[in-house]
This record gives sequence, structure tokens and C-alpha cells, in this order.
Amino acid sequence: EVWNPNGKYRVVSTKPMPGTRWINLLIQQDCRVEICTQNKTILSVEDIIALIGDKCDGVIGQLTEDWGDALFSALSKAGGKAFSNMAVGYNNVDVNAANRYGVAVGNTPGVLTETTAELAATLSVAAARRIVEADAFMRGGLYEGWLPHLFVGNLLKGQTVGVIGAGRIGSAYARMMVEGFKMNLIYYDLYQATRLEKFVTGMYFPFPAYSYGQFLKANGEQPVTWKRASSMDEVLREADVISLHPVLDKTTYHLVNKERLAVMKKEAILVNCSRGPVIDEVALVEHLKANPMFRVGLDVFEDEPYMKPGLADMKNAIVVPHIASASKWTREGMATLAALNVLGKIKGYPIWSNPNS
Ligand code: DGY
Repeated sequence: EVWNPNGKYRVVSTKPMPGTRWINLLIQQDCRVEICTQNKTILSVEDIIALIGDKCDGVIGQLTEDWGDALFSALSKAGGKAFSNMAVGYNNVDVNAANRYGVAVGNTPGVLTETTAELAATLSVAAARRIVEADAFMRGGLYEGWLPHLFVGNLLKGQTVGVIGAGRIGSAYARMMVEGFKMNLIYYDLYQATRLEKFVTGMYFPFPAYSYGQFLKANGEQPVTWKRASSMDEVLREADVISLHPVLDKTTYHLVNKERLAVMKKEAILVNCSRGPVIDEVALVEHLKANPMFRVGLDVFEDEPYMKPGLADMKNAIVVPHIASASKWTREGMATLAALNVLGKIKGYPIWSNPNS
């Protein structure tokens, strides 16, 4: 699909993206926009090299593509200066290779924070209240009437939520669970915890004179407690619900492994909306088998689009297909931000957002 065929700058999008704002922005700035409509979910490196062709100023790509040496070399040979992932995560992008070929890299933080945190909260609550199992039971015609022990789950109020990775999304998730469900909070960040610390010390709270705890007290509520853990194991040991929000890199690969699963409470809930390889999925399947009261909510998988053998059979697992950022507003925002990244570089404006922002 081609928009504005006579545009001066050629911008390729490897996938159709939601909304039209991103296309309009590019064509208003003299870009010819080419959208790959190949009926293939994941494009190979060869497919993308063919799309780049002999002349290409910038590409908007997807997290399922392998943006390494081969693609950045092809893009730079075609005169390209800019690449943007339509994602905040960029573990599929070799930023050093991009630098070597003089291609700027953008990502799409911010616009997906609340939507992603909302899915992590949804999975937490759905796991606590066994929603997916109960739905299947109902549809299976198994419901014979109310029973005192039917699908008994966990009350979140007063339990402890643990957040690992306290950046934008982890902080928004913490806010939802603390404000919405009055959970106590324990968190750990591998780098810094600035955003979350601002939240817990009340700076994100609308009445700056109060801390959040003071506000709850003034309103007759038991204040929640919060603390920054000094190790990840402290969070795993103490929390009833744990949500993972780190970036995926060498240090976070299999961050949750067999040993760390063993540290967690037998009835804990583990949620992952970050990247699949943060959890050792084989060890997780074994853990789910051995601990039927342990529950997980997974949006991401180690070998996407596949699940490790056995996971699909586990009743104590909720699995969804990498949809954490899938709200209309967010996906249109991601497309727009990705287009602005590429456009900014082509036109010589400072790039809108890059992986270091
Ligand atoms: C991301 O942006 O990194 C998500 O995984 C998809 O929105």
C-alpha cells in the first residue's frame, strides 16, 4: 500500500499500523509512505531487505523482527537514517549495529504505560479470583448451583503486591494495586526506582501536603505500607502478587528461575507483561505442576509465539497473546510516536524518543 507516491522521502512500515494520524503526519512532511501488507505475521530479514530496496529514508518496524547488522547495513546502503520500533521494548534491536551504520533508533515509551499496567492489574485480579477457570467451568455446563467452596480465590486488600522493575509501567501498576485494591507494596528495581519512589512518597498524589498514607488515615482507612526491598529475593519471599517489569537484557534473562520460584510463597501469583525470557518457562511449568495453588498470568513467552510444553494444560496459568499495550488509544499513539521518530531524524529535528529516554 502506497500513500503520497511522489513524496520526496521514502518511509517504509513493515506492518499496517492502527489509525491514520501517523500516515497523515508523514505525508504532510513530503514522505512517500509504503506499508507492507504481506499476509505473513512475522517478516524475515530477507523480506525486510526486499522492502528496503535501493532507496529508503526510514523504516518503522515491529518487535517480532530481527533488527541487527544485516538490516541496518541494508538500510544505510539505501541512504536510510532512521529506524523506529513500534514498541517500548527494543531487545530485538542491536543498537550498536545501528550506531555503526549511522542509523538512529527510536522506540515508543509513555503512550503504553497505563494500558500495559492495566493488563498486568487485570491478570493479577483474574488470577486471584480464578476468572478464566470459572468461565470455562460455566461454559462447560458444569455449574450445578452455588457452593461454599466453589472457585475460592484470594482477597487482595491487605495482601502485599511486589513489583520488580520500578520504571514507568511498574510504577503505574503499583499505583493501581495500591490505590485500587489497598494492597501493601514492596518493590525492587535493578537500576533506580525514581518514579515509584516519587509515587510512594506522595509526590504523585494530587494533594502534595499529604503522603498517600496520611490521606488514607484522614479518610478512616488503614494506610497501606510500602518499602523498597534491598534484594529481589526479599520481594519474592514477602509478596503475595508479584509483577515483573524489567527490560530484557543479559542481566534479566531467566531472572525468575527454578531457585527464585522456590523462594516465592506456595500460593503466590506471578504476572509477566515484560518479555518472556525474563522467566525460565520450563522451570515455571514444573513449578506450576508441583504447586497447584501457585498461579501465573502471562502476556509474554520465552519462544513467542509458542509456549513451552505443558504450559497450555495448566489450570493455574492464564495465558494471553502479548496484548498488554493493545488499547486503541495506545496502539494509535505508538504508531504516531514511531512515525515522529523517523520523521524527526529525516527532517533533522531531534529524534522524539530513543531507547535512552
Ligand atoms: C512493547 O512495546 O515493548 C510491548 O511489548 C508491545 O507493546
